[in-house]
Amino acid sequence: METVYYGTDDGQLTEAARVIQRGGLVAFPTETVYGLGGNAFSAAGAKAIYAAKGRPSDNPLIVHIADTADLGRLAAEIPPAAHKLAEAFWPGPLTMVFRKKPEVPDETTGGLPTVAVRMPDSEPTLKLIRLAGLPLAGPSANLSGRPSPTAWQHVRDDLDGRIDGIIKGEPCRGGIESTVLDVTGEGELVILRPGLITPEMISMASGLPVSYDPAVIGRPEEGLVPRAPGMKYKHYAPKCPMILYSGSPENVLAAIKKKQLHELAKGQLVMVLAYGPEKKAIAPPEVMAREFFANLRELDDAGADLILAAALPEGDSLSFSLMNRMLRSAAFHVEVV
Ligand code: TXA
Ligand code: MG
Repeated sequence: METVYYGTDDGQLTEAARVIQRGGLVAFPTETVYGLGGNAFSAAGAKAIYAAKGRPSDNPLIVHIADTADLGRLAAEIPPAAHKLAEAFWPGPLTMVFRKKPEVPDETTGGLPTVAVRMPDSEPTLKLIRLAGLPLAGPSANLSGRPSPTAWQHVRDDLDGRIDGIIKGEPCRGGIESTVLDVTGEGELVILRPGLITPEMISMASGLPVSYDPAVIGRPEEGLVPRAPGMKYKHYAPKCPMILYSGSPENVLAAIKKKQLHELAKGQLVMVLAYGPEKKAIAPPEVMAREFFANLRELDDAGADLILAAALPEGDSLSFSLMNRMLRSAAFHVEVV
C-alpha cells in the first residue's frame, strides 16, 4: 500500500482521522515515542496493527485517549488513586492498567482482562483522537524488535508501505516509552514498565506505596514472567550486538578501548555509544533518554558490527528506566570490569 504523509494542520488531521474511522492505521507523534494508531474498539484494527509491526498478538496495546472522560468508555472500574494520577500526570508519559469493559476487544488487550490507557502530551495527536471520536490503540510505531521511533523519519524507515499514514509531527521530547502502572491492586501500585514518571512522583501524587514488578528488576533467565507481556520479548534492539560495561569509570574506559582495538584488528566496525562515565557531567539522564533510540538507529545505519556502551551508574529512577532499555538492547550482555 502507499503510505500517505500528513502535516499537523486541522485539514490534514481531519483526513487522517477519517482513515482511522474507516479502519486504517496512522502513526502519530507523542512526547515519548511515535505510536501506530488504529481504532481501539475494533478487533480487526488491532489485528492489522500486529500484522504491520510483525508483533506477537499476545502483546497488549496501549489505548490513547484525549479526555479523561473517555476513560469511562474503556475501564470497568476507576480507583480513586487513578483519578489523582490522571489529574497530576495527564497528558503525559504515564500509562495506567485498569480492569477492562467488555466493549474493549480481546485483540486490543492481548486476551487480558485489563486495558492499559494513557493520554499523550502531543497537541496534534490529541486533536486527531478527538476528530476520530475514537480511542487509539497504539504500540510504538517500529517493526517488532527494532528500537522505538522518536522521529517520523524512523517510522518511515520501518513502516513505509505497510501502514496507511504517518503524521509528520515533532521529534519526541521524552525518548523512552511511558511508565506502565497497574492500578487494579488494593492499596498498592505496581510499576510494570519503568519510564519517565518515577515511583517517587507516583507515590507523591497518589499517597500510596509504589513497587516495581519483580520482572522489571530481574533478568529473563531468572524465570520471572513480566506482567507487562511486552517486556518479555527481545526489545529495543539494534541490528548488531551490543555490550554494556559496568565498573569504575577508569575500568570501563579501559575495557571499552581494549575491546575496540581487539575487534578493529579483526576488521569489525566497533562503535561506542557516547554515554560513558566520562560524559556524565554533560549528559543528564533526560538528555540520554531522549537520544538513546535515535543513537541506536544512527549506529545501525552507519553499519556498526558491534556497539559498546558504559552501563549507567545506579542512582536516580530515570537512569534506572533508561538502563532497563539499555539492558534489553544489549540482550542483557553486561561485562563487569
Ligand atoms: O510511551 C508509550 O507507552 C508508547 C506511546 C506510543 O504511547 N507506546 C508503547 O506501546 O510503548 P508498546 O505497545 O510498545 O508497549 C506497551 C507495553 C508493553 O510492555 C505491554 O505489554 C504493556 O504495555 N501493556 C499493555 N497493556 C497491558 C495490560 N493490560 N497489562 C499489562 N501490561 C500491558
Ligand atoms: Mg514498543
